[in-house]
Amino acid sequence: MSPRTATVPVASRRALADAATVVRWCDTLAAVSQDPDRITRVYLSPEHAQVDAIVAGWMRDAGLETWQDAAGNLHGRVAGAAPDAPVLLLGSHLDTVVDAGRYDGVVGVLMAIRTVARLVEGGPLPFALEVIAFSDEEGTRFGKALLGSSAVAGVWDDGWWDLVDGDGVTLRQAFTDFGLDPARVGEAAVRPEQLVGYLEAHIEQGPWLEQAGQALGVVTSIASARRFSVEVVGEARHAGGTPYERRHDALLAAAEAALAVERICRAEQHVGTVGTMTVEPGAVNVVPGLARFAVDLRGEFDEGRDRVWDAITDAFDEIAARRGVTVTPTEVHRAPAVFCAERLTDAVRAGITATGESAPAELFSSAGHDAMSLGLVTDVAMLFLRNPDGISHHPDEFVSEDDVALGLDALAVAVERIADDRGAGAGAGAGARAERAADHGATS
Ligand code: GLV
Ligand code: MN
Ligand code: MN
Repeated sequence: MSPRTATVPVASRRALADAATVVRWCDTLAAVSQDPDRITRVYLSPEHAQVDAIVAGWMRDAGLETWQDAAGNLHGRVAGAAPDAPVLLLGSHLDTVVDAGRYDGVVGVLMAIRTVARLVEGGPLPFALEVIAFSDEEGTRFGKALLGSSAVAGVWDDGWWDLVDGDGVTLRQAFTDFGLDPARVGEAAVRPEQLVGYLEAHIEQGPWLEQAGQALGVVTSIASARRFSVEVVGEARHAGGTPYERRHDALLAAAEAALAVERICRAEQHVGTVGTMTVEPGAVNVVPGLARFAVDLRGEFDEGRDRVWDAITDAFDEIAARRGVTVTPTEVHRAPAVFCAERLTDAVRAGITATGESAPAELFSSAGHDAMSLGLVTDVAMLFLRNPDGISHHPDEFVSEDDVALGLDALAVAVERIADDRGAGAGAGAGARAERAADHGATS
């Protein structure tokens, strides 16, 4: 047996059983979609209510007390050793992009539930454990991402109430239709002084763990992001009768603008994406008079991201002047880079090491996560799970049951480590660890 083979991580029996449950639950939730043949689940929709009802049932079965907060996030909690114990938050999101995979966000929520169920069997921890299933991370419905976790972090912006979805429904109206009171959204905010921190497990959404041949990785920081909705106004005219020199084609200006986003981001080692584009009036024989598109921009640091955006808007201005159109960007989302807290990443690293991985991979996340909002009010850390082929935001998104099992073992140890760091000594954590060590030996 080669030394590498000897250290291949192997999950405990308990984690393998829990992983089977998590994957089965992911399959169950994948059936809750507004579209019959693909997964699309957006904020404040009937499907949002439906998955929350299902997941709340699983939380209660696991012994968690559940409630919905004032922004439509689902919470489940088990008490700590003392009534006034602080709270360790674990979570991720249940909303999806359009035509999504079944694991992005969902697997993190469900792993958190199984982890809490497993840990409380060893008795109460020195802190309460609270799972949050965030209601909007993707921003699919209103363009602005992280609405659910922004409410929990207490950074809700009243300017968001007038955001509209594709049907012209305002966020304010959608709140009311869902049975929430916009005036009470502030009540969703956590009290930072009560928090131990926030842990999130998530599929990687990129190829690095796959390439490294590792099931798990610890996240060091999460990319800063900005999103814009851009309107290009030209002039609609006859497609046959209008010579090129008389045209102000909004679509061609938008197409050039999209290429400028790619050119500048490539040169500056950022990622920029034009993921939507619509044209009006949208007729085969009319020069497009209006185009709208969205820009999603990510960078490791806020300063770099903003410098790149400035270069992009300079390019937009040049295109607008040359083509005789107007190009007007409106910012719809901005999230600063978040750096994970050493004290919590150490715990995640310890969790990965406990699975048998001697050198846990360290990753920067260019994808956004609910941890970005929580990072504004408490320490955060993230555990990434290998995502074969790195494909996500796509129905082929995948994570293996074996990797989920390793992730569950790592998450449980990470929480125990945080408990031990707070002086739990040889209490519940040590007991559960002993059980897992025996179990691990039995399966390796
Ligand atoms: C969420 O998945 C994002 O990074 O857009
Ligand atoms: Mn996503
Ligand atoms: Mn996600």
